[in-house]
Amino acid sequence: MNEQFQAPPGEPLFNPWSPKFIADPYPYYHRLRAAEPIHLTPLGFYVASRHADISAILRDKRFGKDFKGRMTRRSGAQILDEPVYRSMSHWMLQLDPPDHGRLRGLVVRAFSARRIEDMRPRIQAVVDEIIDRVASRGFMDLIADFAYRLPVTVICDMLGIPQEHRQFFYTGSRNAGRLLDLAPLTEAEIKEQNVYNLTMVDYFNTLCEMRRKTPADDLTTHLVQAEEAGDKLSNDELTANMILLFGAGHETTVNLIGNGLLALHRNPDQLRLVQEDPSLVPNAVEELLRYDSSVQVTGRTTLEDVDDIGGVSLPKGTPVVSLLGSANRDPAVYADPDRLDVKRADIHPLSFGGGIHYCVGAQLARIEGEIAIATLLRRLPGLRIDNIEQPDWRQTFVLRGLNRLPARW
Ligand code: HEM
Repeated sequence: MNEQFQAPPGEPLFNPWSPKFIADPYPYYHRLRAAEPIHLTPLGFYVASRHADISAILRDKRFGKDFKGRMTRRSGAQILDEPVYRSMSHWMLQLDPPDHGRLRGLVVRAFSARRIEDMRPRIQAVVDEIIDRVASRGFMDLIADFAYRLPVTVICDMLGIPQEHRQFFYTGSRNAGRLLDLAPLTEAEIKEQNVYNLTMVDYFNTLCEMRRKTPADDLTTHLVQAEEAGDKLSNDELTANMILLFGAGHETTVNLIGNGLLALHRNPDQLRLVQEDPSLVPNAVEELLRYDSSVQVTGRTTLEDVDDIGGVSLPKGTPVVSLLGSANRDPAVYADPDRLDVKRADIHPLSFGGGIHYCVGAQLARIEGEIAIATLLRRLPGLRIDNIEQPDWRQTFVLRGLNRLPARW
């Protein structure tokens, strides 16, 4: 065991609410993998930390989402009457077959490899425009001024949100990710999420109405036409999945760009390699996804008794949290896993999940990440990040990212 693998002394095996854990979860993951790869937490759920177990869980039909059952067991059935959870219960991300496949099938075409490839010039133009706005200033917050604007613009484009409506989306809340966190929300947080959710539902209903009257070449029109064609999806499912696409489409990609730029700047030798040879950028993005994934966790529940994962008996109805960020640093798969190596071969990060819920937007996120990082390195080569040793991490665990990342050039 090398020194990086030493356990932080005196800390519980799994304590994702401690600021130390949030600042650097990886030593904790190494300890979990070595000590108890399928670990029962005091909160009653298990955490899986080995690559092999997580890959198996994500592809195993005996593990499902069971969103309603999970929420009811955690907070009581009345929680599902809250508007935000009612809406979430329609997200494809939270559904098991057959409803999952029915809803996913309606959107995947918009994310086909060819369609996403065709978006490259538009993504490049958005990145150039963002840099044009700040280039003469000499400083910016890489999160608010750079990383955030790109994916929000791209998902607004895909959904066909008119330019004049976009201000709300650019200034919108970044708290929606809290909904996915392992710690239940407080009453005040639920109220805040209800307000946000109802505002979004209202907005997307208006947009759908516009597209019913005047169809366009966008994802909203496609979904509205599917709704009108018969029993493919209900109005609640329609708006709920637009909210999911909007949230999933930007929060995660903001953090891919933010975490990625931080990691490169903390490893100047690797930064230099990509600066000198931009053809390394696609592989570097894959490595950055592995090294510090913007999604650290995904949850499943056993739909029947399971006793062949990691040698532990998991009765039906047991919640199991898969630590994707830990799988990505598993030394059984990656040599010297804590080293950022932009030339690493055979990187297959679990950052986009696996199995039937594999991220719909994976290829889009990769291309946004590639173009954002390559263009920034090319156009602002002297950029330096302030406070690189103690960056301002958001105090959330499932979605890993920074509040701000001030930089100057
Ligand atoms: C770096 C960026 C991204 C990361 C790390 C990421 C990660 C993930 C992960 C881990 C899942 C699976 C969750 C599970 O197994 O429960 C997922 C699902 C999903 N992602 Fe992403 N995502 C990213 C970007 C995007 C983008 C850009 C979009 C859309 C524009 C998107 C849309 C979705 C949707 C709709 C699902 C649900 C798929 C399903 O349940 O079948 N994601 N994502």
